[in-house]
Amino acid sequence: ALISLRQLLDHAAENSYGMPAFNVNNMEQIHAIMQAADACDSPVILQGSAGARSYAGEPFLRHLVMAAVEMYPHIPVVMHQDHGADPGVCLRAIQSGFSSVMMDGSLMSDMKTPSTYEYNVDVTRKVVEMAHSGGVSVEGELGCLGSLETGKMGEEDGHGSDEELDHSMLLTDPEEAADFVKKTDVDALAIAIGTSHGAYKFTQKPTGKVLRIDRVKEIHARIPNTHLVMHGSSSVPEDWLEIINNYGGDMGQTYGVPVEEIVEGIKHGVRKVNIDTDLRMASTGAIRKHLHDNPANFDPRKFFKEATKAMKGICQARYEAFGSAGMA
Ligand code: G3H
Ligand code: 13P
Ligand code: NA
Ligand code: ZN
Repeated sequence: ALISLRQLLDHAAENSYGMPAFNVNNMEQIHAIMQAADACDSPVILQGSAGARSYAGEPFLRHLVMAAVEMYPHIPVVMHQDHGADPGVCLRAIQSGFSSVMMDGSLMSDMKTPSTYEYNVDVTRKVVEMAHSGGVSVEGELGCLGSLETGKMGEEDGHGSDEELDHSMLLTDPEEAADFVKKTDVDALAIAIGTSHGAYKFTQKPTGKVLRIDRVKEIHARIPNTHLVMHGSSSVPEDWLEIINNYGGDMGQTYGVPVEEIVEGIKHGVRKVNIDTDLRMASTGAIRKHLHDNPANFDPRKFFKEATKAMKGICQARYEAFGSAGMA
């Protein structure tokens, strides 16, 4: 059944587990996430970005998620809009049937320029008023996701954005977080602790200097009743990186967020953990390998099946590590 993010994260807090929230764009990703959840009895968060809606087409994305709900009636599913750029994007997600939306007011609607605190409070509060009146949950974000190694926001190609951010923006301030939650009434709060989007998060295995789990603890101590969200939380699996590069790919050496660090965060109020890159890498690696090993094959179902299996493996490992397995 479709449930709200608030319902699920309240249950996660009561039972001390964290939920991976996987980005979805197509049927294979949704199959993998649902098959893994079914295998280990975990609830599910399927999140679609505005980019996912424009890639698949809004009706396709909506019906794919509803197909998952229909096929697995015993699994609670949250349909969450990831990184809403403005209140209009969130409204359209609500109209589309999403049970949860993220209003990312940490950036202006160009999703590049850091916003002011006042702007963030204003747009987030607007979305909360609108969403809550329809029983839809809201995730806000305070602080800018970016690397504490370089001061830059993450980018897919590993080159980073040009602009260097003020160091203070890259870490969420606990006092400001308390004020933000009080003023906006968000159900969950995404915080900045040194993670960034994409595959190129850290140039070596992250130390406590560049991945600030200590900041999670400080924020949780200040607002213990707020569900915290970690973005940019792919672990960038070394084995899949190697497979991609061994079968014709060309990704640079890079490190993600170690699963054990996420688990430490879950002990201190992290309830939602956003993962996109890991599934992208697993499916790309599996497809590269399959096509290399089976040059005569031209039935896409054969390599899509391999991609689904690879993604399912990552999903189940996260459900088990984060403690959501057995909680459906
Ligand atoms: O935060 C970004 C997510 O990884 C979604 O990426 O906007 O390319 O769909 P996307
Ligand atoms: P990754 O790029 O680390 O998978 O993060 C995804 C994310 O935060 C989506 O909102
Ligand atoms: Na989100
Ligand atoms: Zn994100």
